[in-house]
Amino acid sequence: MHKTRMVQKIALIPVEDRLKAIGEAGYNTFLLKTKDIFLDMLTDSGVNAMSDNQFAGMIRADDAYAGSMTFYEFADAIKDVLGYKHVMNTHQGRAAEHLLAKVFIKSGDVVPTNYHFTTTKAHIELLGATVLEIYYDGALETDSTNPFKGNMDPQKLRKIIAKYGKQKIAFVRMEATTNLIGGQPFSMANLREIRQICNEHGLMMVIDGSLICENAYLIMQREKGYQTKTVAEIVREICSVPDLFYMSGRKNTSVRGGCIATNNKELFDKIRPWLPVYEGFYTYGGMSMREIGAMAVGVREMVDPTVAGCSVEQIKYFVNRLVETKIPVVTPPGGLACHLDAMKFLPHVPQNQYPAGALSAALYIASGIRSMERGTVSMDRDKEGKEVMADVELTRIALPRRVYSISHIEYAIDRINWLYKHRDVVKGLKFIWEPPVLRFFDGRLEPIGDWGRNLTEAFKKEIGSN
Ligand code: F0G
Repeated sequence: MHKTRMVQKIALIPVEDRLKAIGEAGYNTFLLKTKDIFLDMLTDSGVNAMSDNQFAGMIRADDAYAGSMTFYEFADAIKDVLGYKHVMNTHQGRAAEHLLAKVFIKSGDVVPTNYHFTTTKAHIELLGATVLEIYYDGALETDSTNPFKGNMDPQKLRKIIAKYGKQKIAFVRMEATTNLIGGQPFSMANLREIRQICNEHGLMMVIDGSLICENAYLIMQREKGYQTKTVAEIVREICSVPDLFYMSGRKNTSVRGGCIATNNKELFDKIRPWLPVYEGFYTYGGMSMREIGAMAVGVREMVDPTVAGCSVEQIKYFVNRLVETKIPVVTPPGGLACHLDAMKFLPHVPQNQYPAGALSAALYIASGIRSMERGTVSMDRDKEGKEVMADVELTRIALPRRVYSISHIEYAIDRINWLYKHRDVVKGLKFIWEPPVLRFFDGRLEPIGDWGRNLTEAFKKEIGSN
């Protein structure tokens, strides 16, 4: 329900050049340059198509260092859409995580969550605390019909509370669509049940709402009693549950920023003094006023079902088309991306040779599409320097909002099918350099054996140069 009024030219470089580019990027798709990328499906973060009204909001923005009226417009939008009286901007989602960790986490604490996200975990662990994943049995099965794999298991939460005691639990974190296990939603019933347990034990609940609209859209489609509710009503209902809410604004609101919001003034006042120390003055929090202008509009637009559902519906199409040809993908389709199950796609590549990383690099060679590794490369080593194997090895092909069309997706499907037929050619990877934290961003790898060359030769023989 949108038309394209501004375009960006892209190019598909020859497969020989793609082989060279991925080699120079250390077989890490983060290190590719966009001039070498055809379809950039790395992420849905900061790369969505903004609306005409968001651009207008940028131009109109009031650039004052302090007291900008654009901030107050944003705060009004948060109040109207999410129902929170208190809000502060942060430069992006992980900056919100940094502030929450700084204020609420002490060494030795634990943070139960329905599933961790990379940056969340890093902030929590850097302060000496531990993240505990409390999903239902079966949530990690990639081939599934469970509509709510993002639910937290209440029985396991009760056991954790009994084991650690309330004092050690910094907060209980619910992520709205669990990014790392395939953008899977939680149900409203589960959210309320977890809240009830938090109430019984006096625990604080935090929602990471970076993909709250997709979660709400999927609740509308899948949860009994919600079919007649609007996305806006469901978003509002989700937001009424936790004590604290934060989000990366780079996803749902299609800008580059983030925020923390709450109705609990006491909690808000604990965080607020740190905002100018780490982010910026209270009325901009590290964001440019222009982005806040666009975010004020984006917050109102994100609950429109044609915005909340635009990537969900494309992902559903993408996943179902791959299921038709028996390509191993995460089902049911969720938010954010189409996820290939790399352990099933490349069963001959052992997990310590990073199948999801290898598949991501191979997909680039075969198509010029940039995807992202979400597996063991995305896990940092433990304190002893040992590898921590990921629960799932996923190659994430993200769908930024309102950017790609079905014909782009058809191209991706075609190349994925070609790659699947040649999967035996693809082997593993090994690190040649890794940074101490969040190694997936900047680490460099190389192929075990010359499989990049072999895949390129197979491609040239059957498809040609591009
Ligand atoms: N929480 C979730 C659930 C996220 O998906 C992200 C970012 C963040 C927090 C951090 O927010 O990037 O604005 O600092 N996810 C991006 C992705 C990076 O590609 O999935 P940020």
